[in-house]
Amino acid sequence: MCGIVGVTGNDNAVKILVEGLQKLEYRGYDSAGIYVNDQKGNDYLVKTKGRISQLREKITPDVHGSTGIGHTRWATHGVVSVDNAHPHFSNDDRFYLVHNGVIDNFQEIKAQYLSDVPFKSQTDTEVVVQLIDKFAVEDHLDAKAAFLKALGLLEGSYAFLLMDREQPDTLFVAKNKSPLLIGVADGFNVVCSDAMAMLRETHDFLEIMDGEVVTVTPDTVHIQDAAGKTVERKPYHVDMNADETDKGTYPFYMLKEVDEQPNVMRKLAQTYLSEHGEPQIDDKLIKAMQAADRLYIVGAGTSYHAGLIGKRLFERLAHIPTEVHVSSELAYEQPMLSDKPFFIFLTQSGETADSREVLVNVNDAGYPSLTITNVQNSTLSREASYTLLLHAGPEIAVASTKAYTAQIALEAILAKALGEVNGQIIAQNFNVRQQLGLVATGMQAIVDEKATIEALANDYLMKSPKAFYIGRGIDHAVSLEAALKLKEISYVQAEGFASGELKHGTIALIEDGTPVIGFITQAKTAGLTRSNLQETMARGANTMTIARQGLAIEGDNLVLPDVDEMLMPLLSVVPAQLLAYYTSLNKGLDVDKPRNLAKSVTVE
Ligand code: F6R
Repeated sequence: MCGIVGVTGNDNAVKILVEGLQKLEYRGYDSAGIYVNDQKGNDYLVKTKGRISQLREKITPDVHGSTGIGHTRWATHGVVSVDNAHPHFSNDDRFYLVHNGVIDNFQEIKAQYLSDVPFKSQTDTEVVVQLIDKFAVEDHLDAKAAFLKALGLLEGSYAFLLMDREQPDTLFVAKNKSPLLIGVADGFNVVCSDAMAMLRETHDFLEIMDGEVVTVTPDTVHIQDAAGKTVERKPYHVDMNADETDKGTYPFYMLKEVDEQPNVMRKLAQTYLSEHGEPQIDDKLIKAMQAADRLYIVGAGTSYHAGLIGKRLFERLAHIPTEVHVSSELAYEQPMLSDKPFFIFLTQSGETADSREVLVNVNDAGYPSLTITNVQNSTLSREASYTLLLHAGPEIAVASTKAYTAQIALEAILAKALGEVNGQIIAQNFNVRQQLGLVATGMQAIVDEKATIEALANDYLMKSPKAFYIGRGIDHAVSLEAALKLKEISYVQAEGFASGELKHGTIALIEDGTPVIGFITQAKTAGLTRSNLQETMARGANTMTIARQGLAIEGDNLVLPDVDEMLMPLLSVVPAQLLAYYTSLNKGLDVDKPRNLAKSVTVE
């Protein structure tokens, strides 16, 4: 949440900052700003409400500099306004600060240290910049010493980029819990929340650890640990093409990412399976999982939904009891754990604060863990015992699509690997490589049916303020994800429901024309779900049926290709993604950046 960028030593600082912010807009998009300094006594602050496009409009041709910082905001403290937009600055105009995170004790600091200071904004960030200035002025400290003194008082999460007009070529950088990277470029340096923002400038990035303070000039990067010692660290290479982060000819990233899913399935099969289908997964990881008596899958939102499918895969293929937990709940209310738990973190971004909070507890207790993520070197990947990458390519639309299917496919591969070493016949007979091939072909067939799905979205969802997705078992798990997709981008109040449970209360909400969409992909429950759909139809519902071919009957609205029933979620979710997409598109909404949301949720 919130994206921050910085650059030092490049006369194109304004362009680099604004293009970087554009790439980070997925992290927050209610207001934005930059501060640049040209080292010759000229500096500029430009802030706006709204998107980066509005920031561009406000940047006049005279705004220039070689060092600067920028921010795109997802409001936490204070309404969306120019005053609350970053960068924030001290009252004497000396210090400029951008911040991603939340300072939990900013009210206490304000009362204790800054009671006589007038504030321009309602943000926690302004408190920090005024505090740094106070220490610099009253204690005669240089910028770094004042920054360190202020950091020592802060509780909460932060990634900070600080500039001092008295040292205008230097960026002062610190982080705790929120992500931040230094990019080492040719003759200059950059800082960013996500490598994606700076791929046009460099592919070589340095990680920063919590508690470190970094001083960045055009030709030096000095990292100091919490004890004040200098840290030597080599950059790592990010092997991603800058073009991968563009949407090409697509109107929205979401559609591009839905379309990429067949290739993501193939890529996962190539990466984690031999030509003959044997899993190629780190032996140590498999042994650690084998030693466990129970798996605990942890995730938020869509990743949690992928965990619900993973539970079925691990229990059926590997015969190991598996629980799935919403991370924000598990962080503060731990159930009774088994003797030998193993934790699996599902997180596209690898930065979700709720999930990270659980991982911190898991590490404190000394339990082994695995992070399944799309982002190399992300916080949860670094901090877990093991990592498996999703290789899905950057996911930029706020609504997650290909990360969900990649998570399920990778869970299937892992469950197969574990099941085989556990001697489970069902795992030995499960040809996951062949199945993922069928899934890829099936996904392609579904995305080729866009016109049909758009027509269904128009007929069923455009005019209704509410909708239900229903199913049983695995189909219920998919219905939760289908409902989340629809509500987050089209603002239709959607609920995913266990179809048998409807009659126990919720059926009271069905009225004339209420859309009820049923998933029928599991032989055991197909008849029951059909009856439940009939029950809603008898009460006026406008029912739509999405069935797999082997279970389809005349009149079903969408028929999906058959793959192993355990992997049917990989296909049944695709029409749901497209139904949500077209409902949002045809309502004229911003599909990729729905209201109130941001992609990487780095606050709890
Ligand atoms: C919904 C969506 C969110 C994320 C959730 C967790 O489309 O994208 O529900 O799934 O915020 O994010 P990650 O997977 O990055 O931990």
